Amino acid sequence: ANTGLSFEIEANASPVAANERAERLIDPGFGRVFTDHMAVVRYTEGQGWHSAKIQARAPLQMDPASSVLHYAQEIFEGMKAYRLADGGTALFRPEANARRFQDSARRMAMPELPEEIFLESVRRLVEIDRDWIPESDGGSLYLRPFMIASEVFLGVKPSSEYLYMVIASSVGAYFKGGAPSVSLWVSQDYTRAAPGGTGAAKCGGNYASSLLAQSEAIRHGCDQVVFLDAVERRWIEELGGMNIFFVFDDGSMLTPPLTGTILPGITRDSILKLAREQGITVREEPYSLDQWRADAASGRLTESFACGTAAVVTPIGKVSTPEGSFTIGGGGAGQLTTQMRSRLVEIQRGQAPDPHGWVTRL
Ligand code: COI
Repeated sequence: ANTGLSFEIEANASPVAANERAERLIDPGFGRVFTDHMAVVRYTEGQGWHSAKIQARAPLQMDPASSVLHYAQEIFEGMKAYRLADGGTALFRPEANARRFQDSARRMAMPELPEEIFLESVRRLVEIDRDWIPESDGGSLYLRPFMIASEVFLGVKPSSEYLYMVIASSVGAYFKGGAPSVSLWVSQDYTRAAPGGTGAAKCGGNYASSLLAQSEAIRHGCDQVVFLDAVERRWIEELGGMNIFFVFDDGSMLTPPLTGTILPGITRDSILKLAREQGITVREEPYSLDQWRADAASGRLTESFACGTAAVVTPIGKVSTPEGSFTIGGGGAGQLTTQMRSRLVEIQRGQAPDPHGWVTRL
């Protein structure tokens, strides 16, 4: 396998003008403002990875029989490049994204992209588009590496050709207005992933299957859906695109274990490590909806929060089910939630020491 690809750089001949870019960066929201370039690497069976390039961001030309369009052989990643306190630029735990991308690829019968190519693609793209990182407080450059099956064939089998790309989006907060807290709807009719399924892989299909449940959440006046396990319909799994944590009155924390049906979040993992080294007891154990409701009512549960690259750490205020709703703590941001969020954000932005070597300067 070719692991030492060098990227050909072909700069965008007509990039967005600086004043227009500044305009777009004022309040970018999430996922609508894109940079001038993209990274592209191709894979061909028998030949391996080749044709690595940084080029102008542009629409793709695809044959309508490209297999990804039919059987959804697709995986992606989400990561952020930050402006550091000293003006530098950094990525947060990019090797973790590279490894998870390989794990996802294996599950979807796709070739594993060598870690070095993944890291180089991201580094190169951020380098050339670094002016697109917003200056604003919560701003960052959201990177979206992804891989699609590009063989022109309608038979159901792993594709013999793939297209790996990275695009970048200037972002602010994922939730409108920064969301002091979000409300959740517990999905009744739909589950996200079953044992043996693709729940632990970051594949587009998992997100597609969350959309109807998410619409139901909105219809019930909630911000996000939370899924129960597919077997017993009893245990809390995760949100449509975020992991979940629970905080108790004895100062301990709990998050559902990685049993193969939930996404192994890098934010989740970072919070586990930060909490444990701070002396907080964190259990990775199943937690049921009934227990959640009872603990919220008794006051044993004081906080809950959602976490992910896009959402960072977002407090959960209220939970609704057909049998009624319950509020967690005061319904706003709890103390530990606020603290975990700051700890993480300060490390990511170079405002706090980085004992784990999580921050990769570019
Ligand atoms: C992320 O947090 O990066 C995700 O991939 C999830 C999605 C809600 C944007």
